[in-house]
Amino acid sequence: MKKVYIRTFGCQMNEYDSDKMLSVLAENEELEQVSEPENADIILFNTCSVREKAQEKVFSDLGRVRKFKEKNPNIIIGVGGCVASQEGDVIVERAPYVDVVFGPQTLHRLPQLIDDKKHTGKAQVDISFPEIEKFDHIPAAKVTGGSAFISIMEGCSKYCSFCVVPYTRGEEFSRPLEDVLTEIVGLAQQGVKEVNLLGQNVNAYRGEMPDGGICDFAQLLRIVHEVPGIERMRFTTSHPREFSEAIIDCYRDLPKLVSHLHLPIQSGSDRVLSAMKRGYTALEYKSIIRKLRKYRPDLCLSSDFIVGFPGETEAEFAQTLKLVQDIAFDLSYVFIYSPRPGTPAANLPDDTPNDEKVRRLEALNEVIEAETRRINASMVGTVQRCLVEGVSKKDPNQMQARTANNRVVNFVGNPRLIHQMVDIEITESFTFSLRGNLLINED
Ligand code: SAM
Ligand code: F3S
Repeated sequence: MKKVYIRTFGCQMNEYDSDKMLSVLAENEELEQVSEPENADIILFNTCSVREKAQEKVFSDLGRVRKFKEKNPNIIIGVGGCVASQEGDVIVERAPYVDVVFGPQTLHRLPQLIDDKKHTGKAQVDISFPEIEKFDHIPAAKVTGGSAFISIMEGCSKYCSFCVVPYTRGEEFSRPLEDVLTEIVGLAQQGVKEVNLLGQNVNAYRGEMPDGGICDFAQLLRIVHEVPGIERMRFTTSHPREFSEAIIDCYRDLPKLVSHLHLPIQSGSDRVLSAMKRGYTALEYKSIIRKLRKYRPDLCLSSDFIVGFPGETEAEFAQTLKLVQDIAFDLSYVFIYSPRPGTPAANLPDDTPNDEKVRRLEALNEVIEAETRRINASMVGTVQRCLVEGVSKKDPNQMQARTANNRVVNFVGNPRLIHQMVDIEITESFTFSLRGNLLINED
């Protein structure tokens, strides 16, 4: 049995891709996933280049596993993901002990690349973009819990001026409807209760239908809603530019669609949004939220923000702060702008000192955390339908479940409840989690 160590950087998309790497390798031989690189036969890094820090971390981590390869030259070291896609051969030049380099679109070729390396003795680099082939070769998703991520589309064609994703993952490409549905029906039959439809811009979904027609994202939501056994639906990430009326109507009609939405806004300033090439104004974003809250007054909204975009003034940052308060965003992600080579924004003059960017990051996080605490406190005394995920990370005597609005709830319960939907009365709230009492009889 081969021991595989895999380290994943970055987003949910990468978590998903790491799972796929393991499944592709497991098609050919028995595998055991290990949590430390010592004694592993295959060491894989699934990398992220969205921000500079994550990118540089890869090279320092590679340096750390080099000694294992020196002791045992049969170990295979592979680098996948977006840094691989962007750097290609440079990775092997910088770290000659790396055996295979593959991009997000060629991870299904991993077994072949490893074989080729063994036979030729030469490092293998394949960072091409054969999107269709990738979806053809993906093994069925494995069930790891009551919740499953299903990739419905890949890539991004939005070309925000700060972002590398369109260059590293390629243009938007949707999986055919039948493939997505077959996967979801299979998962539901194996006991999966919650689906999370995954893609860089899920609302750009345009899946081919068996009759040759095209299924858009709103139609897909309605179809998945009817799959027996699926009790909860989420998606990530969607883009404000394509958040159509038809998608908004799904919040009126589809009770399985959770009242929690991650909709990246990036900034509250129209000048900055335009320089970012986001394709909407703050008012247009607010209008989407107003319509959604008409159907779902309890909608929890999370977002991504970039502070310190080149030329962002104090007044423009204040517009972001104000918008966060107006919309009452839930727990969100705030990033300091990181110039990415090859993106248009990297050429813009940037005279905001780093200390000031850090101050903006902290100020924004403070406002968002206050709102998150307020939402958590408002949940005390309510009964929440939750999916039990497993044993609590904080206390091995407790279980951990997730609410529809993506809160972790710790409660006392039987491990037999794992992957079941249960009702929990919330009794206490903290900044990042809740505590509650189970309301059903476990027997
Ligand atoms: N597809 C998503 C969307 O609709 O915006 C975003 C995907 S991106 C990988 C995730 C987040 O990383 C973005 O929303 C943005 O906030 C952040 N990000 C991307 N490029 C960045 C950069 N150069 N510097 C800082 N943050 C960045
Ligand atoms: Fe990046 Fe903008 Fe696409 S943030 S992933 S280019 S929507």
